[in-house]
This record gives sequence, C-alpha cells and structure tokens, in this order.
Amino acid sequence: MELVTLREVLNAAEKGGYAVGAFNANNMEIVQAIMRAAAAERSPVILQASQGAINYAGLDYIVTMVKTGARGTDVPVVLHLDHGTDFLQVMRCMRAGFSSVMFDGSRLPLAENMQITRKVVEIGRAVGVSVEGELGKIAGTEDDISVSEKEVLFTDPLEARQFVRETGVDALAIAIGTAHGPYKGRPELDFPRLARIRELTGASIVMHGASGVPDEDVRRGIDRGIRKINIDTDLRQAFVRAMQVQMAENPDNIDPRKVLGPAREAMEKVIREKMRLFGCAGKA
Ligand code: G3H
Ligand code: 13P
Ligand code: ZN
Repeated sequence: MELVTLREVLNAAEKGGYAVGAFNANNMEIVQAIMRAAAAERSPVILQASQGAINYAGLDYIVTMVKTGARGTDVPVVLHLDHGTDFLQVMRCMRAGFSSVMFDGSRLPLAENMQITRKVVEIGRAVGVSVEGELGKIAGTEDDISVSEKEVLFTDPLEARQFVRETGVDALAIAIGTAHGPYKGRPELDFPRLARIRELTGASIVMHGASGVPDEDVRRGIDRGIRKINIDTDLRQAFVRAMQVQMAENPDNIDPRKVLGPAREAMEKVIREKMRLFGCAGKA
C-alpha cells in the first residue's frame, strides 16, 4: 500500500477505542522489524523518524526505506516526523514524502507554539499531511527534577482546549508524567488530568515516553483517550541487548548480518507485544 495519513489511522482508532503504536526507526533493520511486526499482527502502524534519525540515516533513505516497506505490505503504514522543532525541517519532511509530522513547539511560549503549529496545520491540510502538536513539556528521565517541579511542566487542560481549537491539530502530545528514556521507578501518571484534557479538547491524545510504563497504566490511558503511543527506548534495549549477546557468544564472528539479524528479530517480538497491548493488533 501507499503511505496513509495519521488522521486516517486515528479515525479508525477513535471508532474502535484502541491506540496505534508509533515506533522510532533509525536504520533498515529497524524499519523491517516494525513492518514485519505490523504484518504479523495485522496492525496499522506509525513508523516515526526523529531529527536525530534523519541526521543519522538521511532524509531520502528514511522515506525510501519506509515507502518500500509499505508497498510490500497490505497494512496501513504512516511515516511520521517525531519531535520536529524546526519549521523548515518540518517542511522538508512534507516535501520528501512524510504522511504526518509533529511540530514540537513545547519549549516556546504558548502564543508562538500555537502560531507556528497552526501554520504547519494549514500547510499540512493543503498537501494531505497530518500534524501532531505538543503542549506541556515531556521531561527526560535523566532530568533530575522533583515531582512538584515536574507538575509545573504538565499540560494545562484549559490551555489544551485553546491550543486544539486554534491550531486544528490531528493529535495532541501532552505531559502527564511520562518521560523519554528508561524510568528509575514507576512513573506516576496524572490520569484525572488526561481525562480532563480529553473532555475539553476531544482530541486524539499522544502518550510519549511510553517505554517502561506498566501495562495497566497504558490500558488506563487508552480508556481515557490515548490514541497514539510512542515507543523507542524499549526497542533500543531489545535491539542492542540482542547484539551484545551475539557478540559475546560469537567473539570471532565478523559477519554483521549475524549480529543485526537476531537484533531485528528481538525488536520485532517487542513490537508485536506492544501492538497486542495497545489493541491495534488485528485492526488492519
Ligand atoms: O523522543 C525521542 C525519541 O526517543 C528519539 O530519540 O532523538 O535520540 O532519535 P533521538
Ligand atoms: P521512549 O523512548 O521513552 O519510549 O519515548 C519515545 C518517544 O516519546 C518518542 O517520541
Ligand atoms: Zn517523544
């Protein structure tokens, strides 16, 4: 199939009451692991590339690999820019063939975030590309900040209503206590805040930093309007640990395929488990 938009897969997720997994890709083996998992689970899938992934692999390589994978499967595939912070980079991704982009203006003052996000949405609508916005600041697990300091960064529900009304985003990333990277303890998620944001905005909500969030909290999030779930760290861990095992067990091996192949398989397994947890398995 050709790539589909985020809007299209989220419309189906809204009707079905499930969330679609968004998995970060940086190289061919990761793209293949994501595609194979989606095909095996009959799941719609969002394959996302960060600015770091684009710097690493190259914009055209990412688009070509993902389009090749999508054409080789009959499940819906979205190619999404993850955390685009630069307006011009977002434009380059649209032109290169991404079917969805995130403009992350969460570090900007609210008015500026809304103004640029609205502009991205206008352009996206004109060319058939979906847009995710972000309001509130999603911390990194390495950021050494207290719980009360974290709450200051959480998304304000009334601001979220204004943000969604004025920008028209297809999906809204919010800060309710998740963080990027491995958690040190159990994350404390603010579910009443999530429910309030959903109630006031009616938007499809995105959970970032979902690696390491307990399964029951993922389900509680989906019950309250989470429709896109971003996973990177859990995939990185599965991939690199499998490589480490291969290299430790076969120190004389010099064939990269013997290291990367098992890493690809380990990652595919984790993605398939996530798809079943999110409820998107069997929905394609
Ligand atoms: O949210 C961040 C993603 O895990 C991407 O990370 O910028 O290192 O590619 P990255
Ligand atoms: P994790 O790496 O914590 O899973 O977060 C992924 C993410 O939010 C990508 O935008
Ligand atoms: Zn993120």
